[in-house]
Amino acid sequence: MTTDCLNRILTRRSVYDFKPTPIDDRVIERALLAAVSAPNHGLTEPWRFYVLGRETQGAVAEIYADLRASKRFDRGDAAWQKAYDKAYARFAAIPCVVLVGQVLAEDLVQREEDYAAVAAAIENFLLALWCQDIGSQWSTGPVIRDLRTYALLGIDSTQARLQAALYCGEPACMPPARERSWETVTKFLK
Ligand SMILES: Cc1cc2nc3c(=O)[nH]c(=O)nc-3n(C[C@H](O)[C@H](O)[C@H](O)COP(=O)(O)O)c2cc1C
Repeated sequence: MTTDCLNRILTRRSVYDFKPTPIDDRVIERALLAAVSAPNHGLTEPWRFYVLGRETQGAVAEIYADLRASKRFDRGDAAWQKAYDKAYARFAAIPCVVLVGQVLAEDLVQREEDYAAVAAAIENFLLALWCQDIGSQWSTGPVIRDLRTYALLGIDSTQARLQAALYCGEPACMPPARERSWETVTKFLK
């Protein structure tokens, strides 16, 4: 492992605020190549990626905003509308949103291993973005469980499950580095 690669792994942090700058398609394509290079048992390649264009992102933003506003207020109230507008604007402004699905194997052991492979692919994707100075947030919020999102993307929820929404963009600010200890979670055995 090169020092640069290790440095990228050690400095990756979840990013919650992005500059509005769009991400070049090639940056996303390189990250997708890294994603599909992840280990996957039996070469099941269980991952599916949905890179949202502006129109689809706007439609998902509507679902996201509805879920956010309806959690706290009654639909139609002025407070609901205000919360909706704020949430919609926030989601719609994310430079790039990628949803990640998992093909659902019938065998439950394979299904669990496939989720591990999808998670490995996601981490590869996020690290490959970070190697290109693009930050990201891995989210499992309610928008990926909402059947309206499945309908929008044309996903049959009995065949595949959305496992993550990845919010990506140039960081507007970076969260500070956080100390993590491997010593307290590791035993060396003889
Ligand atoms: C499976 C999974 C689900 C996550 N879901 C969310 C989420 O819904 N919302 C969120 O803000 N962060 C989510 N995160 C990001 C974690 O909160 C974040 O990685 C953690 O706080 C550590 O921060 P770091 O990524 O900067 O090291 C998720 C991470 C993982 C691995």
